Amino acid sequence: MKIVKAKNYEELSLLAATAIATQIFEKPDSVLGLATGSSPIGAYQNLIKLHKEAQLSFAKVKTVNLDEYKGLSKDDKNSYAYFMNENLFDHIDIDKNNTHIPDGLATDCDGECDSYENLISSLGGIDLQLLGIGRNGHIGFNEPDNIFSSKTHCVQLKESTINANARFFDNDMSKVPTMAFTMGIKTIMHAARILVIANGKDKAEAVRNMVNGPITPEVPASILQCHCDAVLIADEDALSLTEGLK
Ligand code: F6R
Repeated sequence: MKIVKAKNYEELSLLAATAIATQIFEKPDSVLGLATGSSPIGAYQNLIKLHKEAQLSFAKVKTVNLDEYKGLSKDDKNSYAYFMNENLFDHIDIDKNNTHIPDGLATDCDGECDSYENLISSLGGIDLQLLGIGRNGHIGFNEPDNIFSSKTHCVQLKESTINANARFFDNDMSKVPTMAFTMGIKTIMHAARILVIANGKDKAEAVRNMVNGPITPEVPASILQCHCDAVLIADEDALSLTEGLK
């Protein structure tokens, strides 16, 4: 895994946005795999700026998001569909018909997961997948487990993840959905390029385990060591426990 050290969150966000913009300039009809959460917000703000000030066009771009809470509609302000509209899609020239997120209200879980996988295949696969990393090493909502998950599936969230995400739900853990749809590890690993972003001291242990640790489903992100084009952009705090950096 290639590692790029950023001074702080601002620099990390600019570097991540530049990598995504370069992908779009080179291939205007790119399929982007996108993430939600705190980590990508700065990158999305920089992409909006590049759209407004540097003619970066998303007109032909297609997107597939990593995950969605089960039980939330796309109009719920805590859904990831709502997050993407608020933080990116409403501010760029993307055709919303080309943006895809699992349907949180789907009752046929297996059917929804199969159709999401088929959709990704029909788009020709993901050109660039953006990832954040959870404090327990999760990517998407692929939680620590004893096997690596394969394709898009429905998961029971771990208490640590529910706890970490409570900040988006008035700090009330009881309001956080307990289940989610997520791309699987195999889905993520099939992306042609992967860009992971991490900032802050609370990610330092997860980043160290992802980069320096053994490849194990107990740290789902550790599988990224096996991807041939995975880049980590992280700030100094997130890299503070990682060894072997030049
Ligand atoms: C979000 C996602 C999650 C987050 C991870 C880090 O779509 O799939 O894996 O990337 O939980 O979240 P933040 O960035 O909020 O620390």
